[in-house]
Amino acid sequence: MNEAIDYACYDHVRPLKWTGEALELLDQRKLPFHVEWVRCTSGDEVAEAIRQLIVRGAPAIGIAAAWGVVLAARGIVADNGAEAARKLDVDLQRLNAARPTAVNLAWALARMRDALENSGHDWRGALELEALAIADEDLAANRRMGELGAALIEANSGVLTHCNTGSLATAGFGTALGVIRAGVAQGKITRVFADETRPWLQGARLTVWELQQDGIDATLIADSAASHLMKTGAVQWVVVGADRICANGDTANKIGTYQLAIAAKHHGLKFMVVAPSSTVDMATASGDLIEIEERDPAELLGIGGVRTVAEGIRAWNPVFDVTPSGLIDAIVTERGVIGNPTPEKMEAAFGG
Ligand code: MRU
Repeated sequence: MNEAIDYACYDHVRPLKWTGEALELLDQRKLPFHVEWVRCTSGDEVAEAIRQLIVRGAPAIGIAAAWGVVLAARGIVADNGAEAARKLDVDLQRLNAARPTAVNLAWALARMRDALENSGHDWRGALELEALAIADEDLAANRRMGELGAALIEANSGVLTHCNTGSLATAGFGTALGVIRAGVAQGKITRVFADETRPWLQGARLTVWELQQDGIDATLIADSAASHLMKTGAVQWVVVGADRICANGDTANKIGTYQLAIAAKHHGLKFMVVAPSSTVDMATASGDLIEIEERDPAELLGIGGVRTVAEGIRAWNPVFDVTPSGLIDAIVTERGVIGNPTPEKMEAAFGG
């Protein structure tokens, strides 16, 4: 970390709290006008909270799922970790099925299962320590990525970001928003634009609110204004997060990311993907093998519960898309920066 800069003053929001008894989740369906917490006391309640987007963002759903395993474990009796792992199998599967695209969910659950299988009599303690470690490592990775990503950005730059990749989507600090936090703190980023991110409005409801909490000035644009913004010269980088990065560098992220990458290439802008190594999925060779979550068309047919579209209209609501690696200038993880990702570079960084 750049010790001279106080990043903490740019990082106030937290999406989840472990109380020792329960997992409390900041209800992201209600932001920005209602700051309410939802208390989960069972694995199933955590799975439902993930499904309903009470907690969202790839790293945050992995962390929530890890605490979901700790809560599920309260319902079983076992003499050792291996027995507990067998008894928790159905709970692990239910948590894993909550959302399909972000690999962090399966990754965190695999870590929890490994921790169980390698533990003995105090398997409950081992589970709790592992969930804490997953959260702590995420926060540390985000701070590291903030430094690495900001180092790529030149002084007096403007950036455009998509969805919410901030403290709300992680253990804190954020991925793409962490780079933006660091770049602003260092005085390099002087213009921040966030797009609305239709249909769930993660940009409009969450990102600009989160930045406002930290005193970071940001300008909201309609998704459809992005190319026009790029043409003005106000932004030099598009900085986004990821839900799954494949072995060839193809990257799944919130729907609309792909068209931003195409537009960035057309305008000669740079495109950065920022994600912890827990988002890298070397077992998936390329983006066309990723399952893309489709959500209720109702998310498109109205806003805030008010119908805006005539009855009888059909809607299609895929909520992620895949940006081919050829459109990505840099993938930033806590392990370092991969410029112009290729299968060979990914293998060198994450293989084995
Ligand atoms: O549907 P969401 O809001 O969970 O989608 C989130 C995103 O696509 C984020 O960009 C991604 O998870 C990275 S969050 C650090």
